[in-house]
Amino acid sequence: MSERKKAKKTVRKVAESGCGIGPGETIRVGLLTSGGDCQALNATLRGIAKTLYNLYEKAEIIGFLDGYRGLMYGNFRRMEKSDFSGILTRGGTMLGTSRQPFKQMSVPDEDGNNRVELMKATYRRLKLNCLCVLGGNGSQKTANLLREEGLNIIALPKTIDNDLYGTDETFGFQSAAEVAADAIDCIHTTAASHGRVFIVEVMGHKVGWLTLYAGIAGGADIILIPEIPYDINAVVSALKRREQTGSKFSIIAVAEGAISKELAGLSKKELKSRIAERKHPSVAYELAARISEITGQEVRVTVPGHMQRGGTPNPYDRVLSSRLGVRAAKLIREGGFGRMVVVKNNEVTSIPLEESAGKLKMVDPHSSLVEEARLLGLSFGDR
Ligand code: F6P
Repeated sequence: MSERKKAKKTVRKVAESGCGIGPGETIRVGLLTSGGDCQALNATLRGIAKTLYNLYEKAEIIGFLDGYRGLMYGNFRRMEKSDFSGILTRGGTMLGTSRQPFKQMSVPDEDGNNRVELMKATYRRLKLNCLCVLGGNGSQKTANLLREEGLNIIALPKTIDNDLYGTDETFGFQSAAEVAADAIDCIHTTAASHGRVFIVEVMGHKVGWLTLYAGIAGGADIILIPEIPYDINAVVSALKRREQTGSKFSIIAVAEGAISKELAGLSKKELKSRIAERKHPSVAYELAARISEITGQEVRVTVPGHMQRGGTPNPYDRVLSSRLGVRAAKLIREGGFGRMVVVKNNEVTSIPLEESAGKLKMVDPHSSLVEEARLLGLSFGDR
């Protein structure tokens, strides 16, 4: 090949690589997992890394430990190719994670340092070409802030809550829904034997996705979610209707963030103080007390809690997170920074990070899913 042709090929290769990484040069990518963990974090890290190793001759991957804390204080591991083997099915995150609330980003740390400047300094010191942030709502707000500060960011939508705006699904959601549905399945047999009312409290923070899916999958009789505030009298009526039609037991799936119609009418501040004044540890216990008070019935509560984030990712999440990981690496290759990889109509694509950061995706009370659940005979405790 002539020198001119060789040079042309090199220029084309460099142009193809959005980071301006030429053949023989090393791409440096930072990875971090932030906020509450979930089942498919390792599978996603693996998807990104395997694709990078395939797309680039030389890829250096830096794994920041414990989320943004690792980026702030320069705690990281230089990852080896072998680190990404055998982790597809492993839950949790091999990098560790921590909660670093977005609000705290504008407050100096214990030593008076500016947290954002600390993160920028680590990024520059390591000469990173890009930082991939695997996180939920709060984490993506910080990722967007770093983008505004000039860092090359690729965001990946993680959370069991499925509340990230702009993506049909987040990784971790389906696995968690499976655990919560399993919990409801187990409750079914004991509830039926004893003829009791059971309440299963499902995670999901301020939204009801997890409860809605687990509730439908587990055959719950009543589903209470934040998007459809409940009326305790309507809940009791739904229980009575079941009794009258010969059902000896009932299962209520309640989202941890579910609220009554009365509370839904309060201002944000008033609501916060009413929740703080709660005599019971959570909404499920409060609801149980109210139902017992009104009906005199025995009510039991089960809270699967963090089990919902634990264990191995289900096959659906393994595929989803692998696809999102591949897309993230391809975006790096194309130089498509400042974006979040998402899934829309089963296609993996990406959107500007600023379109999603800070916005919640809530259940639409008028969606076909809710309507279908109602037609199945499920009550949402609202009428
Ligand atoms: O965001 C995931 C989530 O599991 C929520 O469903 C839940 O409200 C929260 O995290 C629990 O947080 P932590 O693990 O900090 O108690």
